[in-house]
Formats: sequence, structure tokens, C-alpha cells
Amino acid sequence: MAKVILLNSSPRANSNTQDVLEVCAEEIEKNGVEAEIISLRGKQIQSCVACNGCAKTGNCVLNDGLDEIIEKIRQADGFIPAAPVYFGTARGDIMAALQRIGKVSRGNDKFLEWMVGGPIAVARRGGQTLTLQEMTMFFPINNMIIAGSTYWNMVFAGPEGTALDDSEGIATIKLFGQNVANIIKKLVD
Ligand SMILES: Cc1cc2nc3c(=O)[nH]c(=O)nc-3n(C[C@H](O)[C@H](O)[C@H](O)COP(=O)(O)O)c2cc1C
Repeated sequence: MAKVILLNSSPRANSNTQDVLEVCAEEIEKNGVEAEIISLRGKQIQSCVACNGCAKTGNCVLNDGLDEIIEKIRQADGFIPAAPVYFGTARGDIMAALQRIGKVSRGNDKFLEWMVGGPIAVARRGGQTLTLQEMTMFFPINNMIIAGSTYWNMVFAGPEGTALDDSEGIATIKLFGQNVANIIKKLVD
């Protein structure tokens, strides 16, 4: 069965980003594609050190748990990174993770090519569009396919549990999830 990995970069236990990803994952599964949410919570994700070790070993040489996540993405058909907005941009660890995931893919089996997905940004008040732009850069350079929706994949949420109150944001995420699943199914056909 085709599968999508959704990556949550919030460090919080009761994360709004997690709530949004659960909505997205449910839509993906309703449309016949498996979905698994993975969290970076508790991990200390380092930035790429440009050693090119991954070109020799097929995986990142840094030992902080990202390799296990890379392996899951390698086996998947879709990838959705999600970030809370911190000071107008994406939380740092998601960018560190994306840069290392991309480097491993490009230096080896190019497992990201033709994977379907797109980024999601969650914030209390502002900065989602720049955060989406930051994360979107990862997709075309890795020859991936970005799914659309009727708005950008942004949700407003401040205190814990408030993401679901942003009905327009949640509707956007639902359609995005449906589109990711349906594009994957078309590609697999
Ligand atoms: C260090 C820090 C910086 C933040 N910067 C912004 C910001 O620039 N814009 C904004 O709207 N919210 C900002 N927030 C609020 C979070 O984006 C918001 O609470 C979001 O829902 C958190 O998602 P999470 O629950 O998944 O961690 C910031 C929060 C923290 C901890």
C-alpha cells in the first residue's frame, strides 16, 4: 500500500502542529493511502556538516536519530514536513532535517524524486507564508511533486488545542491531504 510520512517539528507535547497533521493524515487514509506521523520532539537534530559521507554510506553520518526517519521516507510515496512558526520563519530543526534528507537523497538513490507532498505551517498570528516558502524550496530541487489546495497550507493556532478552531485553515489542510493521496494513486496506477 502506498504511504505518506508526515513530519512534525514541534517540540511541544500537546502540539497544534500535531493536531493539524492528524487531520491531514486522516484525510490521506480516508482516500486509500497509509499515513504515519513522525515527531522530532525530544531529538536534537543537527545541521548538515557538508562532509559528503552520505554519498559513500547511503545515510547521514550524524547520529541523532534522523537516519531512521530518512529510512521511512525512503520507503514512502509522499512526504509532508510541518513546522510551527518561530520569529517569522520555520523552527530551525525542520530546516536542518530537510537539508540533510535532501542531501542524502541527492547523493544516493534520489528516493525523493516523484514523491508527492508539500509543507504545512502553523502560527498564532503571522509568518506562515515565509515559513511555507522556506520549506517549499526543498520540493522542486529534489524533483518532487507539490499538491495544491484552495489556499496555502497554513493554520492559525496559539494556545494548545486551538488549531481545529481555524475552520478555513483546516478545510485547506483536508483538501491538501485528499489531493496528496489522489495524486499518489494516479501515479501508482
Ligand atoms: C520561540 C517562539 C517563537 C514564535 N514566533 C511566532 C511568530 O513569529 N509568529 C506567530 O504567529 N507565532 C509564533 N509563535 C507561536 C507558535 O507558532 C504557535 O503557538 C504555534 O501554534 C505552535 O505550534 P505547536 O503547538 O505545534 O508547537 C512562536 C512560538 C515560540 C515558542
